[in-house]
Amino acid sequence: MLTRRDLGRRFGLVAAGLAVGGEAAYAQRRTGGRDLSQLVLLNANENPDGPPQLSIDAMTRVLARSGRYHDEDTEQLGAAVAASEQLQPDQVLIGCGSSEILHCAVDAFTSPAIPLITTLPSYELPVDMASAQNHPVIKVSMTPDYAADVRKMVAEAEKARGGLIYVVNPNNPTSSITRKQDIEWLVANLPANTIALIDEAYIHFSTSPDLASATPYVRQGKNVLVARTFSKIYGMAGLRVGYGCARADLIRKMAVFRNNTIAVPSAHAAKAALASPTLVPERREKLAKTRSEICNWLDANRFRFIQPHANFLMIDVKRDVRGVIGEMMDRGVAVGRPFPPLNQMLRVTIGTDADMAKFKEAFAQVAKA
Ligand SMILES: Cc1ncc(COP(=O)(O)O)c(C=O)c1O
Repeated sequence: MLTRRDLGRRFGLVAAGLAVGGEAAYAQRRTGGRDLSQLVLLNANENPDGPPQLSIDAMTRVLARSGRYHDEDTEQLGAAVAASEQLQPDQVLIGCGSSEILHCAVDAFTSPAIPLITTLPSYELPVDMASAQNHPVIKVSMTPDYAADVRKMVAEAEKARGGLIYVVNPNNPTSSITRKQDIEWLVANLPANTIALIDEAYIHFSTSPDLASATPYVRQGKNVLVARTFSKIYGMAGLRVGYGCARADLIRKMAVFRNNTIAVPSAHAAKAALASPTLVPERREKLAKTRSEICNWLDANRFRFIQPHANFLMIDVKRDVRGVIGEMMDRGVAVGRPFPPLNQMLRVTIGTDADMAKFKEAFAQVAKA
């Protein structure tokens, strides 16, 4: 485990230019200096609907208060999140996006001796964060249906005498799920000195009865940390709000590594969105409709893809994806980055219906080439 003194080392890395970015750094700015307003942006798993009106109203009301620090606003958001998850406030850590929760988890629960154990492929941020600190990273191939191979991950933690097991559910970039029975098995079989970090950034987009949140395991006091974000279904990627749910002692170990506070308007935007009983189901339904339309089009045109459960999908392009990414960009459509070892698969974020019409037009040309 890291101590507070190790913070200096982390910030030293940042100063040396080794800062670890988030989805925007990985994706959106790789657009070769093009005018973003002229591109169809299907490359960062953002939500084209943006923040709901009730959040915009809440931000407008508090903007004038932003001249002062208002830590109590973040505390109130933490209490609201805790109530919504049936947890105590000390079981919730608010972060500057869920990126900050992932950073804190890597800092608190990996070390030169304790590895990060992740799926291959998966979201890169924890891997980059651990690697930048010379903490070991073990990448475990997914099962043939693109689920986390929890049995192999547990075996790795046993071998290493501990670990931080990172499962993204639904996974980025595959949009596939790890079934609730497998998460249950993982939690029941966690070796000593091992924490399961279940990243549920995209969970709201799934309609599958086989997927369930891991927050009940937090309520049961297990070694489980659940990361969530307001960047995806809530459409607030630019407001930077996320949270982690875990036992209070685990939250305390992570909290010392936080180095951001939430902006006043962001805290209010998130709190207002959380209070809406209709926002998430309505957005899920809308996304599911656009997602099934694009899947039907791909099927009709005989393109293979992984069955999606999030707001993006992985399409088999049957050639080196790097060429496809460039050719799509030439046609004004920014799509996902390469995700080795799936070198012939293209990640496409699901945008508006108009975005997807442009995607189809460009992709039909590029795929034919
Ligand atoms: C799986 C996953 N986790 C976490 C994040 C971080 O998102 P944010 O920091 O905006 O909450 C992302 C961003 O795309 C992601 O894909």
